Amino acid sequence: MVSSKNIVALTGAGISVESGIPPFRGKGGLWEKFDPMEYAHIDAFMKNPAKVWDVLIKEMKVIIDNARPNTAHKGLAKLEKLGLLKTIITQNVDGLHQMAGNTDVVEFHGNFAWQRCMECNNKCETIKIDIGKIPPRCECGGIYKPECIFFGEMIPQQYLRRSEMAASTCDIMLVIGTSANVQPAASIPLIAKQARAKVIEINLERTPLSKEISDYIIMGKAGEVLTTLINEIEHLLNL
Ligand code: OAD
Repeated sequence: MVSSKNIVALTGAGISVESGIPPFRGKGGLWEKFDPMEYAHIDAFMKNPAKVWDVLIKEMKVIIDNARPNTAHKGLAKLEKLGLLKTIITQNVDGLHQMAGNTDVVEFHGNFAWQRCMECNNKCETIKIDIGKIPPRCECGGIYKPECIFFGEMIPQQYLRRSEMAASTCDIMLVIGTSANVQPAASIPLIAKQARAKVIEINLERTPLSKEISDYIIMGKAGEVLTTLINEIEHLLNL
């Protein structure tokens, strides 16, 4: 890693677990409590935005408003400062990579920091939204929708292009805290692999990438693994 010229990280919900944000799948995951097709599909939102706001988005807002970067986010920010990490492609919508200090972050599934009025297109910061009345409405009376990608929505072309570019030009791809179950994000490590990058997976468990795509698998909590890796890198760089 120390001699790498261009590390790219693909991150998923697992990197934010240590910040108190639950993952989607597995033990304690959101999709254990909620059926994603009933609450996270765009058709479900359009049909009944009040229900989706009341059950899912309101809870997400409280959790994300209060979340702060953990040692894993800070570790990636440090890797950028050391000149090793160029880009983060994240499936997360929590904004914690930017808060930690990373400057080139592709938010593949959009972000939760902003809401857009479905009538007049006005944008409002999520932190300023009053959830006293559900669903929250813009001054024009329209309902706010988070700027996140729901199931059934297309990934914007510019995110796809930027991710493909980053993946196909990196020499190491760190894949951190994703179950690699959701396409097209789950194919990004394959693009890196085909471009001869080494793929290093950091996760608590094996994923569909582990068998044939990952060159190295480091099992453990993202915060702890990244802290150890960065200490080692700093030692090698005599910092
Ligand atoms: P998942 O919830 O599917 O997977 C989280 C992964 O993180 C699992 O593989 C866990 O083993 C791992 N994990 C949990 N805690 C960890 C820790 N402390 N350190 C390291 N790894 C840990 O989350 P994603 O793969 O991000 O999409 O999910 C992908 C997409 O599915 C999300 O962006 C969202 C969701 O439905 C949309 O809503 C469109």
